[in-house]
Amino acid sequence: MLIHTIAEVREKVREWKRDGLTVGLVPTMGALHDGHKSLIEKSVAKCDKTVVSVFVNPIQFCPGEDLDKYPRTLDADEKLCTDAGVDIVFSPSAKEMYGEGHIMSNDFLTYVIPPYFYADKLCGKSRVGHFDGVCTVVNKLFNIVQPDFAFFGEKDRQQLIILKKMVKDLNIPVEIISCPIVREESGLALSSRNKYLSEDDKSEALVLSKILFNIQACYKNGITDVRALSETAYSYLNERHSLEYLEFRDADDLEEKTNADDNTVVFIALKIGNVRLIDNITLRNLC
Ligand code: PAF
Repeated sequence: MLIHTIAEVREKVREWKRDGLTVGLVPTMGALHDGHKSLIEKSVAKCDKTVVSVFVNPIQFCPGEDLDKYPRTLDADEKLCTDAGVDIVFSPSAKEMYGEGHIMSNDFLTYVIPPYFYADKLCGKSRVGHFDGVCTVVNKLFNIVQPDFAFFGEKDRQQLIILKKMVKDLNIPVEIISCPIVREESGLALSSRNKYLSEDDKSEALVLSKILFNIQACYKNGITDVRALSETAYSYLNERHSLEYLEFRDADDLEEKTNADDNTVVFIALKIGNVRLIDNITLRNLC
């Protein structure tokens, strides 16, 4: 069922809660792919009812970013959700979420301030204010849907860590379930922004997973020095890749590592032309 208003979602959820049913929320910006599908399937399996929100959240885009051209595929998204057994697709307008006047100018909006120790590094360095927008919209969605469980992908690992901290610090009564990255057979991590890539760019984009898998292999072979592991990346890079960061951080608190261990996540962000892609790998995932 496609719903555009907050009032209607609230009404439905109230009915479910009266009947003692559990509710799962999968927050998305649409352009759904198999990565989202895996989150949806987890929610449908775990919860009595599942809500998928589809909302391209304007306040998490920085000036000059891809807000206007972000892929919008609501019909296909609705079909994927219906086929997967989703109960409500909640697709509000920006006006429904933020009211008149708040869409272009965020000045009058109450924001959730993310924990800056987590938010000012990695993607937060180049996307200033991005995580304020993410925390604000996710907090709103939690208040609207009041889910028991909320499902997020490890592809946006920094976002996941920040949202877990927000839920803990603000005592929000929801359990966050983190779900593994889904990759194409080639290794490319699924992302809605992959839609921007030409076939040619797509093969260039394999550089992210190649670098991460190679670092994982080197770690498995006993190399733990972060400088040495970082250096293994350079042979994969060419003039079409613009590396934004390659960083080794703790999986729980994002503290920087000088020596990798089983609780280390390797984060990478890189641009191919104008398309900015991110990926990460947890070294403890070794078998
Ligand atoms: O990960 C995303 O798609 C977005 O950041 C989210 C969590 C749906 C908030 O807009």
